[in-house]
Amino acid sequence: MKAIEVSLGARSYPIIVGTGLVERLCDHLPKNGKLAVITTPIINDLYGNLLESIGRTHDLIMVPDGEEAKTWETVEIVLGKLLEYGLDRKSTVVALGGGTVGDLAGFVASIYMRGIDVVQIPTTLLAMVDSSIGGKTAVNHPMGKNLVGSFHQPSKVVIDPLFLNSLPEREIRSGLAETVKYGIISDEEIVKIFENTPVEEIGQEVMVEIIAKCTAIKARYVEQDERDNKGIRASLNYGHTTGHSVENLSKHEINHGEGVAIGMMVAALIAENMGLVDREMRARQERLLKKIGLPTKVPVLAIDEMMEVMHMDKKAEDGRIRFVIPTGIGSEPLLEYLSEDIIVSALRELR
Ligand code: GLY
Repeated sequence: MKAIEVSLGARSYPIIVGTGLVERLCDHLPKNGKLAVITTPIINDLYGNLLESIGRTHDLIMVPDGEEAKTWETVEIVLGKLLEYGLDRKSTVVALGGGTVGDLAGFVASIYMRGIDVVQIPTTLLAMVDSSIGGKTAVNHPMGKNLVGSFHQPSKVVIDPLFLNSLPEREIRSGLAETVKYGIISDEEIVKIFENTPVEEIGQEVMVEIIAKCTAIKARYVEQDERDNKGIRASLNYGHTTGHSVENLSKHEINHGEGVAIGMMVAALIAENMGLVDREMRARQERLLKKIGLPTKVPVLAIDEMMEVMHMDKKAEDGRIRFVIPTGIGSEPLLEYLSEDIIVSALRELR
């Protein structure tokens, strides 16, 4: 088992990573106070039996699978259940699920009685290495995704790669794109693990190592820029500007990790064109993504529509689009506001 501390003064918390942790939940959840587990029917069917390992009374609240969970209506229903079950300020919400459950449960915990503890138990690789850590919570608004939310750090994050066994291969590859992101922006060792190990041979032990490395990197960024307003935490969005636009315009046929993979290739080409990295950096990243089975070319989508989505991104400023630009493999990227022509020419070149 690996333990990583997120040091944020009074809001500090541990991230623990290990196989089989969820088989002994009584060791990882508070012994006192009421507990309410928020999960989805699919997760409950697959893993509901593991909740017996909590070893004491808890309430179970089901929310819809996927983005449907992240609505005001669901927030109200869940708040109503917490009140009905008598949770008080000393109670804890347990978020058991992927990113959508984590975002919703975190948000509900942040406003219930002005904020109660939440323990995140992510069940997807994406949630394990990204959304369960750092306290970003959100629900969607008819005008856009994640437009309403709060910063509410969890009191603990429990990560068990056991959950990955039930994920479709494509979703694992999508999560691996985020782990490659961490390798490029911060830790060449992660890149080397993928270069030296065929993806099919990555067992749970190596997965624990990869996840622990990624969460440690995320923890360091969160510590320096908890509320994402200093431009430091923004580095975690490497590949995400283009990524979100292809995800969005393909109506999610291209999933998050695939979008991020494409976005990382676009950003690396821009870096090369700006003379910040050599050709080999981009070629190495491309080999790595291909090896994992991720796309590396810009799909046939209208470039003007892609640019429109990028401009609407809440991170755009004065008509310039914020891009995280790599400076090498495993080295701190730069945050640049780019003009449209630089981006458009990279998108054209990578078709
Ligand atoms: N997913 C990026 C962040 O948490 O800041």
